[in-house]
Amino acid sequence: MIFNSTNRLSRSAGSRRAGRFLLLAILALCPAAATGQQAAVPPFKPALAEFMILTQIRHSKLWLAGNAGNWDLADYQIDELKEGLEDAAKYVPDLKGLPVAGMIESTVMPQIGDVEKAIKAKDRGRFAAAYDKLTAACNTCHHSAGRPYIVIQRPAHSVFPNQSFAPRNAR
Ligand code: HEC
Repeated sequence: MIFNSTNRLSRSAGSRRAGRFLLLAILALCPAAATGQQAAVPPFKPALAEFMILTQIRHSKLWLAGNAGNWDLADYQIDELKEGLEDAAKYVPDLKGLPVAGMIESTVMPQIGDVEKAIKAKDRGRFAAAYDKLTAACNTCHHSAGRPYIVIQRPAHSVFPNQSFAPRNAR
């Protein structure tokens, strides 16, 4: 028993030494790591379309939550949607002369405020009306931006089978 555990100990010390040797060998063979230099990778700069895809997902989930009367989730989604568009305005304020930040502020922010109020009031009718106005504002901006072919609408059904949109008390 004692012999066995000592044997196990010395074997693992040996494999630790081998592991250290292997690591040193890898470091020696890797010039960037050996000299401490970083490869010149430019920082990731998300394009406006990337922010928009996230906005599209949140816009869809916002409807699914609000339409089901799941106000906690709807509140979360409108917050994420707003923050995502604020990030879009911050990181892509101008797209080849298109004043994206100003357009986001003037076209969708007021509608986002109305959706927030409808969610606070837990009013489905008011939510649906505010949601449609927000959707129309998305399309107004796409039109002004020379992208009239990007048309946003209410989602007919969920494309997220792994997420429940039902209110907690209805599950
Ligand atoms: C600045 C005004 C503006 C607003 C407001 C705006 N968009 Fe966009 N959106 C754009 C522009 C510009 C593009 C095209 C980006 C490009 O060409 O790189 C775009 C592209 C998109 C795309 C296509 C992305 C792809 O690659 O398939 C979707 C989807 C989209 N927007 C959803 C929305 C939704 C949903 C809203 C509202 C909640 C919204 N947008 C609000 C300007 C806007």
